[in-house]
Amino acid sequence: MRTQVGIVGAGPAGLFLAHLLHRSGIESIIIESRNRTDVEQTVRAGVLEHWVVELMKELGLGERMTREGHFHDGITLQWNRQRHHVDIAGLTGGKRVAVYPQHEVLKDLIAGRLAAGGPILFGVGGTTLRDLDTDHPAIDFRRDDTGVLETIHCDFVVGADGFHGPGRQAIPAAHRTEYQKIYPFGWLGILTKAPLSWPELIYANQGDGFALLSTRSPDVQRMYIQCDPAGDIAGWSDARIWDELQTRLGTDGWSLTQGPIVQKGIISLRSFVCEPMQYGRLFIAGDAAHIVPPTGAKGLNLAVADVLVLSRALDSHYKTNSRDLLDRYSATCLRRIWKAERFSWYMTTMLHRNAHESDFEQRIHFADLDLVRTSAASARSLAENYVGLPFD
Ligand code: PHB
Repeated sequence: MRTQVGIVGAGPAGLFLAHLLHRSGIESIIIESRNRTDVEQTVRAGVLEHWVVELMKELGLGERMTREGHFHDGITLQWNRQRHHVDIAGLTGGKRVAVYPQHEVLKDLIAGRLAAGGPILFGVGGTTLRDLDTDHPAIDFRRDDTGVLETIHCDFVVGADGFHGPGRQAIPAAHRTEYQKIYPFGWLGILTKAPLSWPELIYANQGDGFALLSTRSPDVQRMYIQCDPAGDIAGWSDARIWDELQTRLGTDGWSLTQGPIVQKGIISLRSFVCEPMQYGRLFIAGDAAHIVPPTGAKGLNLAVADVLVLSRALDSHYKTNSRDLLDRYSATCLRRIWKAERFSWYMTTMLHRNAHESDFEQRIHFADLDLVRTSAASARSLAENYVGLPFD
């Protein structure tokens, strides 16, 4: 097989890239190790920054999102049984975020890609990236059904294959530096069949720590509680989960509306950045290159930002034969990534109870929260970051 851009991974980075390249008249092939059902059903976070919403519409992929997404003008912060509304739209000249889960975005992107006749090969194994420092890189893989070795010859290879994929590892270790922070807490996430309890997302630090109230649809709600990342989900009965959620999200005279818990699971939290994000004719994007804890709702948005930068660089390369923007891909992306890393770390440390921190540091986090309540500059900073920083 031969194409211009070989893309490993049909997550947000790979799929958005394929659509952006198609718009520029550049061909690509996507390969993906999971099958289509797994890709479309994995439950992940769900907040789209303002410009991602606009991009979905521009690409002709925004119809269902506009209909089924929940558009929020603000978020609520809560501590000491008090709530504080952060007027995101008012602080950012009218920008709003959409709560529209990642797997719904992926369904729309996959359907759009297949309708446009663009190839996605699902369920491939043994993916190997080679000859990346030559002008004829290639991707070897096997299809699960035939087991036959196949090769995609291309001009450029993109590793959009997540944290555990082969993309990042294909950059020789001597050519990359990795920065990492593991947090000593995880999130227990649930889906519950219950009506909406509150009109916007609530980020709380109360009782034994963090809780988040989010939504999926008028009758399915998503909620998270800070927990031990090594804990066993079996130790969390439904009664214990509701008890903790009520303690952390309750205010005087108000409690959450409960319902049957239809799914639950524990995730760990990490911050991670790989520098640089390119080697020869390989470019890595999304979780392959960086991870943020979900507290700032930045993961998917950062992946889309990477591939927007990459698509512009590839467009310029094919139109003008200049490698200038491609050579600057990593540096351009990392300026935005480190700011999102900072914001996600800030939201995470401010909103969680960390047993390894002193009482002094805990007090500082509450002062940070109170600063958002009392300082317009602090509130604006949070709002600008939450809704998505402008591109350089
Ligand atoms: C979610 O709805 O899954 C969600 C929302 C906001 C976050 C993280 C997760 O910051």
